[in-house]
Amino acid sequence: MSAIKEAVGAAHARILGVGGYRPARVVTNAEICERIDSTDEWIRERSGIISRRFAAEDESVVDMAVAAAGKAIANAGITADQIGCVILSTVTHPLQTPSGAADVAHRLGTTAAAMDISAACAGFCYGVSMANDMVRGGSASHVVVIGCEKLSDFTDSYDRTSAFIFADGAGAVVIGPSEEPGIGPTIWGSDGSQYDAITQRASWIDVRDHNVDFPMLTMQGQKVFRWAVWQMAPVAERAMAAAGITADDLDAFIPHQANMRITDSMIKALKLPAHVPVARDIAEAGNTSAASIPLAMERMLESGEAKSGGTALLIGFGAGLVYAAQVVTLP
Ligand code: UT7
Repeated sequence: MSAIKEAVGAAHARILGVGGYRPARVVTNAEICERIDSTDEWIRERSGIISRRFAAEDESVVDMAVAAAGKAIANAGITADQIGCVILSTVTHPLQTPSGAADVAHRLGTTAAAMDISAACAGFCYGVSMANDMVRGGSASHVVVIGCEKLSDFTDSYDRTSAFIFADGAGAVVIGPSEEPGIGPTIWGSDGSQYDAITQRASWIDVRDHNVDFPMLTMQGQKVFRWAVWQMAPVAERAMAAAGITADDLDAFIPHQANMRITDSMIKALKLPAHVPVARDIAEAGNTSAASIPLAMERMLESGEAKSGGTALLIGFGAGLVYAAQVVTLP
C-alpha cells in the first residue's frame, strides 16, 4: 500500500485585499415610513440607521458580488488565475441551485472551485475561517470570500418590525499566503434552539402546495437583540484570547452592522478602550447581513479611521442562530 501524498499549504494566511459595492439608490427613513407606521426619529434612535441602499430591480446578488470581488482582487494585486476557490455567503441569491458562486467565478474569469454558504449575518466570518483553513491546508492558494445580500427582495416593506432594518450591498476579501499569522482562531457556533428567531415565513414546499405568498423574512427583533447583547461579547472576548491579544491591542472593532445599540452594548461589555475606532457603517448602509463587515472594513480603511496592517476584531451573528468571531490583520 503506497502512502497518500497530502496537500501542503502556506505557513500562514491573511487578508490581502478588500472591496465593496454599494448600490446607487439611497433610501431614506422617510421613504421607508411611506409604508409602515413609524418615524425617522424612531428608526434612528432604535437602530442607528439614517439611510440605506437598495439595489436596482435588474441588479442581482451575482452582479453585486462580482463588483465587490473584482475590487478586492485588484486591491490584493492578484489575477483571476491565482484564485483557488470562490466562497459566496448569501441568503438572498434567488435560486436554490446552482450556487451564485459558480456564476460569480465565471464572471471573474476563473474556473476555480465555487460554493455558496448559508450562515446569514455570520457568513462573512464563516467564509474567512474556511478560507484561512484552505490556504493553510493547501486546498487553495488564494480564496475570494464574498458577503452579498439583496435583502430588499426578501423584506416585507409593510412589516414595521423589519422593513427599516434590512438593506442591499456586497463586500469581499481575498485571503492568501502570508509570512506572518494574519488571521486568529475563529470562535464560532450555533444555537439552533432559536431557529425561528429569524426565518422565512414559509418554505418553498408551502409555496408550491399551499398557495402561500412569497416567503419574506420575519424576525423576532427583541429575541435576537437580547441574544446578541448578552451572548456575543463573550464570543468576541474568546476570539481575542485565542489570538493572544487584549482589547487594548486593537486598532479597529468591526462587528456585524445589525443595530447601532447592539454595537454600543458590545463596546461596553468588552470595555473597549476609547482609542479603538468602531465601525458604524450601519448609519448609511443599514443591515446588509453577510456584506456588512467587509463593507465597514473598506469604509474604515478608505476614510483613514483604520490603517492597513492594523489589528481588527470581527464578529458576525444572525439567523440560525449562528455566530463567528476572529482577530485579523487589516489588508
Ligand atoms: O442582522 C441579523 C440579526 N438581527 C439583529 O441583530 C436585529 C436585532 N434586533 C433589533 O435590532 C431590534 O429589535 C429592532 C431594531 C428590530 C427593534 O427595536 P426594539 O427596540 O427591539 O423594538 P421593540 O420590538 O422592542 O418595540 C418597541 C416599541 C413597541 O411599542 P410599545 O409596545 O413599547 O408601545 C413597538 O410596537 O416600538 C414599537 N415599534 C415601532 N415603532 C415605530 C416596533 N417597530 C416600530 C417601528 N416604528 N418600525
